[in-house]
Amino acid sequence: MMNPQTLSDNFGRNIDYLRISVTDRCDLRCVYCMPAKMRFTPRSEVLSIEEILRLGHIFTSLGVRKIRITGGEPLVREGIDKLCLGLSRMNSLRELVLTTNGSRLQQWAKPLADSGVQRLNISLDSLRPERFRAMTRVGNLMDVLKGIETAQQAGFERIKLNSIVMKGWNDDEVLDLVQFAVNEGVDLSFIEEMPMGAVEGNRVIRQMSNDVIRKIIATRYTLIDSLEQSGGPSRYVRMAQYPKLRIGFISPHSNPFCAQCNRVRLTATGRLLLCLAHEQSIDLRQKLRTPGQSDSLLQAAIQDSMQLKPRSHLFSTTEEVVSWRNMNATGG
Ligand code: GTP
Ligand code: 5AD
Ligand code: SF4
Repeated sequence: MMNPQTLSDNFGRNIDYLRISVTDRCDLRCVYCMPAKMRFTPRSEVLSIEEILRLGHIFTSLGVRKIRITGGEPLVREGIDKLCLGLSRMNSLRELVLTTNGSRLQQWAKPLADSGVQRLNISLDSLRPERFRAMTRVGNLMDVLKGIETAQQAGFERIKLNSIVMKGWNDDEVLDLVQFAVNEGVDLSFIEEMPMGAVEGNRVIRQMSNDVIRKIIATRYTLIDSLEQSGGPSRYVRMAQYPKLRIGFISPHSNPFCAQCNRVRLTATGRLLLCLAHEQSIDLRQKLRTPGQSDSLLQAAIQDSMQLKPRSHLFSTTEEVVSWRNMNATGG
């Protein structure tokens, strides 16, 4: 029997949120996320569903209360429903949530809700089919819109859309995206693009500050600052006209949130990354696959790794600091 324990780092932050990337593969190729020609990890290097469940058990025994499933695109991973069901049954887990690009939700929304996923975050950057195709290189907007409809019927506690706005790409759609969220009755977060991995185009030139987006929204709605949290980096405002909905801002550049960081990330290959934007990590796959490695040894290794957690990211808006890891390795 393992003792109840918690995870804390050298900066006094308590870690109770684990993001698990279940695959680096994706059925889209978003221009801010990956280059047009992407090489994915061979399957033998990817953790099995059983290995992830074992780690889920160990992390929850260490005080993790929220798990977010990410990819790549998590719904291209075989056994995703089995994984969610197994995680959702872990007694001390309070929240099981998932981030998806929405393209397969028509098929998957109901099975996910039935497997215990409580909230969904769905990426949506454009409501114009041709532009959606250009931003995702291969995506079909109708699949995502129908997927959102299906998710609305499936019984999730809450749905949030995530939009990345890029100057010259979709910066004229801010109000349309807000209107869409209002019509659907869902939350919406705007994310500043982060310099993760090499991609085509210049991220500095297309960088759009959330301060500007907020001003655009304020031309139509009265915005009220809110102190509420969803356990992630979004800072929320409410619109006086639609007080039930939250508009979130994830602003690594204009309003950094690292001081409140409560999370670590597991990659599909079993690397435990202590920060999205740094390479400090430990190799949990190697430990999992060492015969006789007990849960307590894995627990101890995870606890020790917390001292590797950096204070903050080092993104800059003036020069491109590129982590060599593309976002599909961690799903954000
Ligand atoms: P909830 O608050 O649970 O709804 O989730 P979230 O908004 O944190 O999760 P989501 O997966 O939707 O992530 C949205 C964006 O926030 C992604 O682009 C992530 O990369 C970004 N993000 C989440 N955590 C961090 C972090 O620790 N550092 C940075 N720089 N970005 C983060
Ligand atoms: N910067 C910021 N967010 C990104 N995402 C993918 N690549 C980037 C990037 N370079 C976002 C997606 C999705 C979330 C999981 O990560 O839009 O909403
Ligand atoms: Fe796929 Fe998500 Fe990356 Fe887009 S952002 S390519 S949907 S992993």
